[in-house]
Amino acid sequence: MKAIILKEEKLQLADIQQPQIKENEVLVQVKAISINPVDNFMVTNPESRERIMGVAPGEEIIVGWDISGIVTQVGRQVTDIKVGDAVFGMVNFPGHGKAYAEYVAAPAAHLALKPDNISHEEAAAATLAALTAWQALVTQAKVKKNEKVLIHVAAGGVGHYAVQLAKHFGAHVIATASAANREFVLGLGADEFIDYQTEKFEEKIKDADVVLDAVYGEEHLLRSLEVVKPGGRVISLLTFFDATPVAEKVKEKQLYAYRLLVASSGEDMKSLAALLENGSIRSYVTGTYSFERLPEAHEQIAGRRTRGKIVVTL
Ligand SMILES: NC(=O)c1ccc[n+]([C@@H]2O[C@H](COP(=O)([O-])OP(=O)(O)OC[C@H]3O[C@@H](n4cnc5c(N)ncnc54)[C@H](OP(=O)(O)O)[C@@H]3O)[C@@H](O)[C@H]2O)c1
Repeated sequence: MKAIILKEEKLQLADIQQPQIKENEVLVQVKAISINPVDNFMVTNPESRERIMGVAPGEEIIVGWDISGIVTQVGRQVTDIKVGDAVFGMVNFPGHGKAYAEYVAAPAAHLALKPDNISHEEAAAATLAALTAWQALVTQAKVKKNEKVLIHVAAGGVGHYAVQLAKHFGAHVIATASAANREFVLGLGADEFIDYQTEKFEEKIKDADVVLDAVYGEEHLLRSLEVVKPGGRVISLLTFFDATPVAEKVKEKQLYAYRLLVASSGEDMKSLAALLENGSIRSYVTGTYSFERLPEAHEQIAGRRTRGKIVVTL
């Protein structure tokens, strides 16, 4: 089968053996793959591969986690998915997802059935990024009706699902992005927009119940801690809360502070599938690449200006 392997520190098209499935897995013929910053991070940061992918030195590496496709084989223990089903999910994250391939062996417990009314591209998009938004706002922050929720990086993959999810749960959403993404972010349902390039969000917001911070660095996280009310919740996707000024502020304001690393979950995928099916949330796919052009999709994501999601089709 065709795959894109990471060889000599480059993404390279290769012809490799189709994977064998375990009893709890299904084999998926991939129709679409979505690309995330972490995919590119794996290419550019070899020292992080063991921590995130669990790969041993010298092991063949296939990057990627996000797939949508058709099941062609089912392991003996799998009862809820059958051959011919269309499925989508984030496979083995953290771990070695091996998604940049024509066929992927995926634990059934990491997948959900793809709603018929969305395409494989839209489904592949709604995996790592959508799960991150779900696990941040629903599992961790438990966002409730009428709460004030600040979402940073609102125009990106995670942020565009986060805005829609927070609105779905009835929150008042304040979103940050650059001016070029103003209409896009307001169109997702955000109630207020802050242009982070010309405005200081900490001068415009106070007493937020929840902040989702996806900008790297302690300085940004400290500013987020300023705007959350005492006892509020702050979920960070990049910066940890253990360094001194951050940890002190968390203690002083008695915050729920959680640094999230998204994790594969078929249960969460099923919740997202239901919302995609009934139109409560949708994927904004702003770029589609052929499998052979996947390295260009990495360049696009590395530019940190992607609106919504980009996907690769097979
Ligand atoms: N811990 C985890 O489990 C986890 C999971 C997913 C993602 N992440 C991390 O979270 C970050 C966001 O992920 P993503 O998939 O959403 O990335 P993405 O899709 O590449 O985000 C691109 C967006 O970032 C916006 N942006 C860039 N700098 C910004 C800033 N200073 N303030 C506000 N917006 C800014 C851009 O909008 P403008 O052009 O308008 O600036 C662009 O739309 C990444 O660093 C990623 O590695 C972590």
